[in-house]
Amino acid sequence: MAAARGAGLSAAALLALLALLALTAGRGGGGEGQRGSPHPLPPGLREELRQRRRDLRRLAGGGGEEGEAAAGGLGCGDLRLVTGVSVLGWGFTKVVSRAALAGGGAVALKSVHGAGREVRQCVQRYGAPAGCRRLAAYKLLKEVTLLRRLQHPGIVQLRGQCYDNSGDAEIRVTAILELGSPLEMIQLLQTPWEERFKICLSLVKLLFYLAHSPLGSIVLLDFQPRQFVMVDGNLKVTDIDDVSTEELSCKEDKDCTLDFPTKSFPLKCSAVGKCEGINEKKNLFNAYRYFFTYLLPHSAPPALRPFLSDILNATGDLRYGINETLKAFEKVLHLYKSGLYLQKRPLLLEDYISLKGFRMVEREDYKCWPSYSHLGCLLSVHGAEEAAAICNSQMQCQSFIITQQRTWTGRPLASFQSSLTDLIPDTSAVVYIKRLASSEERLQRQ
Ligand SMILES: Nc1ncnc2c1ncn2[C@@H]1O[C@H](COP(=O)(O)OP(=O)(O)O)[C@@H](O)[C@H]1O
Ligand SMILES: *[C@@H]1O[C@H](CO)[C@@H](O)[C@H](O)[C@H]1NC(C)=O
Ligand SMILES: *[C@@H]1O[C@H](CO)[C@@H](O)[C@H](O)[C@H]1NC(C)=O
Ligand SMILES: [Mg+2]
Repeated sequence: MAAARGAGLSAAALLALLALLALTAGRGGGGEGQRGSPHPLPPGLREELRQRRRDLRRLAGGGGEEGEAAAGGLGCGDLRLVTGVSVLGWGFTKVVSRAALAGGGAVALKSVHGAGREVRQCVQRYGAPAGCRRLAAYKLLKEVTLLRRLQHPGIVQLRGQCYDNSGDAEIRVTAILELGSPLEMIQLLQTPWEERFKICLSLVKLLFYLAHSPLGSIVLLDFQPRQFVMVDGNLKVTDIDDVSTEELSCKEDKDCTLDFPTKSFPLKCSAVGKCEGINEKKNLFNAYRYFFTYLLPHSAPPALRPFLSDILNATGDLRYGINETLKAFEKVLHLYKSGLYLQKRPLLLEDYISLKGFRMVEREDYKCWPSYSHLGCLLSVHGAEEAAAICNSQMQCQSFIITQQRTWTGRPLASFQSSLTDLIPDTSAVVYIKRLASSEERLQRQ
């Protein structure tokens, strides 16, 4: 530890470098092509390997311990004891499995996808399977290094790693991550606006962090919903091997065009010969086209729509940078939390009788959209007034209660019911009953 500090390296960086050494000097390592091995590596592949090593060394060695995960965590020993391993998903480079730890809890294990497109294409080009797998292993090592150095609630948490070069098999790199679930856009479209807003806000906070990260402004080169997972209702990026911390170099402004399939943006070339803010802008436009346009506007509270349209317009035209975007999101959150978005309504609650000290028995009832429960109609409200407005707008609704449950913004959930039966005492609760409904009931009883 002291030696590592003395050499200007953190423990984490040292670990990554050790893995790098194992990969390059170990069995079938970088020596394969260079020192009289029976199958020398083609020069092109050797050059690619060299570049990745350089890239990795730069990332691993560049910084201090600040912000890095404490040493420790899970390792090879824990991996040998996992059970119930099943594949969760894969991409071009990596395959991810779910596994149960011996001590309880589950994790995601990321390793090189030997049959994935990245390795296959490399083998097609160079005909060197071992070298190609090593090339892919470098990508995973880069990801592990980045996960160690970048800590943010919007980035999947690294819980440990295993570099295994024992036995005859080639060196295996496994990243042990917190377990998430793949992002299902179709499913997300059916969730309440408040939850979709949360995802967009998490993404904006992540992009703010990336724009001002300890490694400089970071661009996600392969920015797509499938590079993200949900962990406890929070959006997190999981695929970060394909990032760049360099901003594009330029001589003049026309070297700095940011191109997307549907649009391109001319940017400025700065005095130091870098395209100014290109990484931040690329992330932001991708967030706009893959997330905001789908998740933000649909069924938003009417009074918030102008603010959301402004965010969409400003990010879609890259008029806002990430700082202004975050500010705009926080303003919407503030309006929403404080109920300022509610339109002035007549006092609808006067149409309701309130019965203090009672609540309704939980049971299956009529459904509404977008309910927080599949058993009935459970919606986020600002308070009893808003709940009364909702109950008024629903034919089946005869009564409601404000539950103790809260959404992530701190708003209560209201449960709407179609009947008045099954009241039970509950000192902390209030049942609101439609006056019309109560008189109808009385008539029926007579
Ligand atoms: N922590 C995780 N929990 C659950 N699923 C994950 C996790 N990380 C990745 N995945 C799933 O595995 C897939 C492949 O992982 P990814 O890192 O994107 O590999 P690649 O670089 O090959 O694209 C992702 O699209 C995602 O569905
Ligand atoms: C933003 O608004 C302007 C003016 O109404 C419009 O011309 C432009 O197309 C809008 N851009 C986006 C991305 O919606
Ligand atoms: C954005 O915010 C960061 C962090 O607060 C700050 O360092 C940076 O100067 C701001 N950038 C702009 C363009 O305002
Ligand atoms: Mg991926």
